[in-house]
Amino acid sequence: MCPAACYESSAAAVVARCCREEGKLPEATDDSVPVPRMTRGLRMRRSLQVLGLILATAYATVLLYQAVAPRQWLEDHPEAVVGVPGNPEDPDIGVEVVPITPPFATATVAPSGTTLTDVFISVKTTRHYHYSRLPAILTTWFQLAKNQTWFFTDKDDAVFQTKTNGHMINTNCSSSHNRKALCCKMSVEFDKFLESGKKWFCHFDDDNYVNVPRLVKLLDDYDPREDWYLGKPSIRAPLEIVNREGNPPSKKSLKIRFWFATGGAGFCLSRALALKMMPVASGGKFISIGDKIRLPDDVTMGYIIEHLLKKPLTVVEQFHSHLEPMKFLHKETFHDQISFSFSKNAKDEWNIVKIDGFDLKYDPKRFKSIHCYLFPYFSYCPRR
Ligand SMILES: *[C@@H]1O[C@H](CO)[C@@H](O)[C@H](O)[C@H]1NC(C)=O
Ligand SMILES: *[C@@H]1O[C@H](CO)[C@@H](O)[C@H](O)[C@H]1NC(C)=O
Repeated sequence: MCPAACYESSAAAVVARCCREEGKLPEATDDSVPVPRMTRGLRMRRSLQVLGLILATAYATVLLYQAVAPRQWLEDHPEAVVGVPGNPEDPDIGVEVVPITPPFATATVAPSGTTLTDVFISVKTTRHYHYSRLPAILTTWFQLAKNQTWFFTDKDDAVFQTKTNGHMINTNCSSSHNRKALCCKMSVEFDKFLESGKKWFCHFDDDNYVNVPRLVKLLDDYDPREDWYLGKPSIRAPLEIVNREGNPPSKKSLKIRFWFATGGAGFCLSRALALKMMPVASGGKFISIGDKIRLPDDVTMGYIIEHLLKKPLTVVEQFHSHLEPMKFLHKETFHDQISFSFSKNAKDEWNIVKIDGFDLKYDPKRFKSIHCYLFPYFSYCPRR
């Protein structure tokens, strides 16, 4: 599928070709490689350069024979030639020699450049956790992404509506933690993202600390006009389920296998992928699929993307859910981590990030301590 917008500076050669085929970009011709014009006063220089050119060409011929592989790369990717400028210092020679110089092989145009404003961050919560979980988020990482972060809950709450500058969304879903309620919220998150027009959809839970600049840096490595499902599984092998496809469901048990990103660690979808998911997942259809396979929201997401759309999960190790022991994360790597989490088990034992900082009584989830480690300039952080 071609992207909605075709830019000449398109990062992917494939996109450029696709756009060209749809007539959204001009044809690639040899003219697109700048050919310098000869002007008065350049003749002397020119004749010297001709000599240089002959030498260069001879050298090039030798190299061309030696560099069969790069040449084949070029032939396979003729569109990559588009927009490669000649050497401005020395245009006459530059243009001639360009096809054999190694940097050419990496001369794809830089990606579009993702900034925070391109991201839609959803945080799933529930009325039961507004007071116990949201304050830790609101005083820390929310401050770095106020305009981009939305809280999906199950009740109108005037207090937190004010605290979040109107960023609480009542999904009208049930407040229980069952599969149906979870899928219901994810469905609303997905629809709100589509409405927002943003390039990236990133989902987190209310027990996540999100390292906002690191998240943006991650997304900047990927093109939102391509299909991306970024996250981390919490199981060692793909999930295997018995498919009940068909109407009436076929007696034959059909095993299917797919990966899914753990919702509690956070995951991101590119807009291109979300648009492809629309026919099966938008307008509440996400809930029907969850009902059909009888699995929670994050598994349903994996089923839709990996099984129905055949797009693979890209594993990003820096997402962390409370299913991992947080104490094994090293402080030296915190800047590189995208999400952290916490949990408390039935025996009242905390699974929390091991970090010096605020007193455990004051900062039991360690969000403030992580935040001050990453962003020490915040007013409540101890002066160093
Ligand atoms: C957030 O959005 C408001 C309204 O659109 C805008 O005035 C403000 O500058 C934005 N803040 C940041 C930090 O981007
Ligand atoms: C929830 O219900 C209210 C009242 O009917 C409605 O205004 C609101 O749009 C609904 N929320 C969603 C996300 O559909």
